[in-house]
Amino acid sequence: MPSADIGLIGLAVMGSNLALNIAEKGHTIAVSNRTASRIDDFLAAAGDLRSRIVPNADLTAFVQSIKRPRSIIIMVKAGKPVDEMIARLVPLLDKGDAIIECGNSLYTDTARRFADLTPKGIGYLGVGVSGGEEGARHGPSIMVGGSKEQWHNAEAVLTAIAAKFKGESCCAYLGEGGAGHFVKTIHNGIEYGDMQMIAEVYGVMRDGLGMRPTECAEVFRKWNKGPLNSYLIEITGHVLDYVDTETQKPLVDLILDKAGQKGTGRWSAIAAEDLGVPATAIEGAVAARSLSSLKDERMAAEKVYGEMASGNARVTLEDLEQALLAGKIVSYAQGFAVLQRASEENGWGLPLATIAKIWRAGCIIRSKFLDQMSAAYAKGGNINLLMVPDFVAVMKGSHGALRRVISAGAAAELPLICLSASLSYFDSYRQGRGTANLIQGQRDFFGAHGFEIAGRGPDQHGVWPATIHE
Ligand code: 6PG
Repeated sequence: MPSADIGLIGLAVMGSNLALNIAEKGHTIAVSNRTASRIDDFLAAAGDLRSRIVPNADLTAFVQSIKRPRSIIIMVKAGKPVDEMIARLVPLLDKGDAIIECGNSLYTDTARRFADLTPKGIGYLGVGVSGGEEGARHGPSIMVGGSKEQWHNAEAVLTAIAAKFKGESCCAYLGEGGAGHFVKTIHNGIEYGDMQMIAEVYGVMRDGLGMRPTECAEVFRKWNKGPLNSYLIEITGHVLDYVDTETQKPLVDLILDKAGQKGTGRWSAIAAEDLGVPATAIEGAVAARSLSSLKDERMAAEKVYGEMASGNARVTLEDLEQALLAGKIVSYAQGFAVLQRASEENGWGLPLATIAKIWRAGCIIRSKFLDQMSAAYAKGGNINLLMVPDFVAVMKGSHGALRRVISAGAAAELPLICLSASLSYFDSYRQGRGTANLIQGQRDFFGAHGFEIAGRGPDQHGVWPATIHE
């Protein structure tokens, strides 16, 4: 007799924590894992929740232990392992059952799998889960995409395990195909932007103002009580405060300055480019991570150009706080613009206010700011965040600080890739008369591509002088 409400395959860190979270919310969960010994370890650590767990190393027995229509979460490494798992599972499933894939998958892979399985009568849900290990165990933000009908079968469980913001679950169905994984990708692009801008501000404090890590930590703690209140600002304070027990030095000073990246930030920058949506802050953040990895080249270049002078930035901490706020608004405006365009292109009907809502708790970019944003989108519809009245007011009050920080940073030779990218986007976005008229002239000169003149229409051409090829 099948007894489990839902199944889960893949008991690595995220999978085990999700499974325990599901059991804790009162649901019986069937679990399986390719390496059977991992199931034993998981059961040993499950404590009182053991009674709600139905373990099975054998995939057929695992599937048969789940009530129909079955909802089966797979939490395996993104890419080929997902396709392999789907291939093993599908022959064991019945029409109406669903596979719920919760890894950080590329949304186009998810869309392909959805398109493959739908005609077979098998539901496919591509679900973005944010919040790391802690979130998976106690309440992540859950971004659901794929088969709507099967979503309803799993809705009660997924809604129950998600984080809550003022009692509202941070889980929502967002659209068909790869919609859920696309939204998670853009979440991560925004996460890259937030992290990079925080790191740049830390760089100004460390190298421009000569502040020690504990002094920087104090500032982040203070900022966390204001408009920048967020998980990432909070953990930045903790990271900066942490002392290495072996050397008694701040740990952050011992960590190598090379950032890793698993791909989602890059995917969001690529998606933005593919869709023709400018996302300079996200692109800047991805580029900054790549630059960070060029440690040897950077060391060599430092020898050639000389070490940057330190402790001479003319900037206030108040301006740094406001600059971070302004940069963040621009970066979110870009991320949401990418979501909006992708939604139009794919016919997803992404609800922007709901997305901001389910990011208010559980996920890595959770913040006070997202509460304001969801309210703004609910009121104002899908417009660029820079045109939403509440944010217009904040930008008007903060872009001056962003400008001062960037000019002080440039004068003090401090790299501010992401903050500068945000300011340039903002200035380009608000510039009624730009400089692309000259680009159009150049294009017409060398390629007769034509340009538009008000009152004369498109496809105009210049009578250009001949140039001599040397
Ligand atoms: C989350 C995180 C999570 C993961 C990042 C790390 O939302 O919980 O984004 O998905 O920690 O993908 O990504 P990088 O290794 O690329 O920094």
